[in-house]
Amino acid sequence: MRRSLAYIVLLAMLGLTALVAQNKTPPTKLTFTTKNGNVTFDHSAHIKREQSNCSVCHPGLFAQDAKKPIGFRPPHKAQEDKKVACGSCHRAGGAAFATQGNCSNGKCHVTAAKK
Ligand code: HEC
Ligand code: HEC
Repeated sequence: MRRSLAYIVLLAMLGLTALVAQNKTPPTKLTFTTKNGNVTFDHSAHIKREQSNCSVCHPGLFAQDAKKPIGFRPPHKAQEDKKVACGSCHRAGGAAFATQGNCSNGKCHVTAAKK
């Protein structure tokens, strides 16, 4: 009897560990370093706007891994037209502002590129 109880407790603990490992804690902010100046991606703000629906972005648009490339390289217009990566929302007629005219006005790239 005592033995089976210990067994059940052990199994429950294993199950919990597996759950925690699966649900990785989302970062609040991510910084993408680029030659044109770094871009701060407010992950929390983006989650809030999507009503915590992670599947809007993961895994279709982005991997849940900051070491993976986000796939939004210049010229951005190309990805905006294809509605991929950030350009699936950030494009003309999309859910958010397009990149054109917003390079370094404080929205995206914080420092201008060195010439
Ligand atoms: C608007 C799009 C968007 C939404 C919604 C979103 N994420 Fe992300 N998330 C990203 C991007 C972009 C990255 C960076 C991916 C990369 O660098 O390749 C990322 C990265 C991550 C990472 C990896 C962090 C690291 O340091 O490696 C985790 C974990 C994560 N997101 C969890 C979540 C969870 C959990 C939710 C839902 C509550 C969520 N995300 C919703 C865009 C989003
Ligand atoms: C699911 C749609 C969606 C995706 C994907 C998305 N964004 Fe956004 N983003 C928004 C919305 C909506 C806003 C706020 C509306 C606006 O300002 O036009 C926003 C705002 C921003 C802002 C202004 C600061 C803020 O968070 O309020 C930045 C910078 C930004 N996004 C960068 C990015 C980058 C970089 C990516 C790709 C890694 C990305 N976004 C992907 C929807 C998205």
